[in-house]
Amino acid sequence: MNRVYIKTYGCQMNERDSDAVAAMLRGKGYSLVDNEFDADVVLLNTCSVRDQAEQKAIGKAGHLAKRKRKDPNFILGIMGCMAQNRGDELVDKLPDLDLVVGTQKFHRVPEHLDSMIATLQGQGPRPDTIVDLAEELDSQNTIKSHVDDKLQVTAFVSIMQGCNMKCSYCIVPKTRGAERARPMDEIVKEIKELAAKGTREVTLLGQIVNQYGIREFPFVDKKSPFVQLLEKVHEIDGIERIRFTSPHPVGFKDDLIECYGRLPKLCEYLHFPMQSGSDRILKAMRRPYSIEKFRSIIKKMRAVRPDMYISTDVIVGFPGETEEDFELTRKHFEEIGFDMAYLFKYSVRPDTTAEPLGDPVTKEQKEERNQILLEILGKRSLERNQALVGTVEEVLFEGPAKKGENMFLGRTRGNRVVLVKASPRLVGQFAPVKFERATASTLFGELVLEGVEAQSA
Ligand code: 5AD
Ligand code: SF4
Repeated sequence: MNRVYIKTYGCQMNERDSDAVAAMLRGKGYSLVDNEFDADVVLLNTCSVRDQAEQKAIGKAGHLAKRKRKDPNFILGIMGCMAQNRGDELVDKLPDLDLVVGTQKFHRVPEHLDSMIATLQGQGPRPDTIVDLAEELDSQNTIKSHVDDKLQVTAFVSIMQGCNMKCSYCIVPKTRGAERARPMDEIVKEIKELAAKGTREVTLLGQIVNQYGIREFPFVDKKSPFVQLLEKVHEIDGIERIRFTSPHPVGFKDDLIECYGRLPKLCEYLHFPMQSGSDRILKAMRRPYSIEKFRSIIKKMRAVRPDMYISTDVIVGFPGETEEDFELTRKHFEEIGFDMAYLFKYSVRPDTTAEPLGDPVTKEQKEERNQILLEILGKRSLERNQALVGTVEEVLFEGPAKKGENMFLGRTRGNRVVLVKASPRLVGQFAPVKFERATASTLFGELVLEGVEAQSA
């Protein structure tokens, strides 16, 4: 009864939380499997950012509950944001659930699972659903190292939890609670352990990473705690690439911009959420910056690193977004020239300050606006990738590609996906690749012949 499958919805933070739960469970003797059919226990780690994400997980849980009715020993749990957001309501809707575990209680999953299994094995009456959603003081300190024995060429490392911003559309402050920073030395220790096991690239994760430790730690030499952390991570031997996600335009100061000129391991790639190009809508979204301010940060970044790759998040169809507002978003989106973007259609979330505004922009309008941005994005990404054809860049190989014999996937420092015919020995290594062909999302290339590695490929 100890084979567990964890299915993850949503963001990188969730991926990282799932990895941490998996590592804890392995440590307790559970085995992790990669599909639900081989599992005795299925845990869904859920997302609440948009209604669609919640519906998907509810659908999946409903489906799995049928299996549970046939096999009473099968265990089904929901963790993460939707557990936090919907709590007891989930148990009413899905009475077959065994576990409902909130975002500050991931570290208690093994203990809950142990007790559920013990009760089931005791052959007594079916145990009640375990619901554990309370806030936990200092829960950021329960994020312990999740370093596994398996090689993680590129790893996500949580540096903080929660968010203190009050963006009017966003459910995250409700599901993840207030901002709390992890101690710097623990983060550094975790990354050193990762490096010792072969990790070459880390992405520092938080809802607003540049706010890291702003309340807990002092500025030193006019450098924010986040910049101090970047400097510390930069010193770690074995780590060759550093990324982070996501920063907020507020608090994106010169000390951080300068890092791109002086910390060579900091990759020339930035995910920088814009959300809208209209100041009126930004204000309604409670995003405390103007589009000019946003653009001026990008301008400064590009002055330091002209080859910077930038991605963003945009929401179309926020309540009250007129054609004129959207035209501003379109214009700035095109002029800035993003290399990648996550485009979202507005979704009303419960208990947000925008909830009372309803959802007046029609589905069709949202779809149309989404398509317009997608087209601009496709064109720009293709142009940028095509400009790389014929050039050579260092690629970090992460693992086999999903398709193609001997095909391996890697990334450039600018976070462009590269597919190359290579040998498994290159996984976890850097190698120069000459790009030969490009689509908007992928570069195809060949290893530049350099001694043994390339010949064996
Ligand atoms: N509707 C649509 N998109 C949303 N996002 C957050 N909340 C909503 C919502 N209610 C988007 C934002 C954020 C990203 C993670 O999800 O763009 O940056
Ligand atoms: Fe949500 Fe805004 Fe916080 Fe991002 S910054 S998690 S969008 S409230």
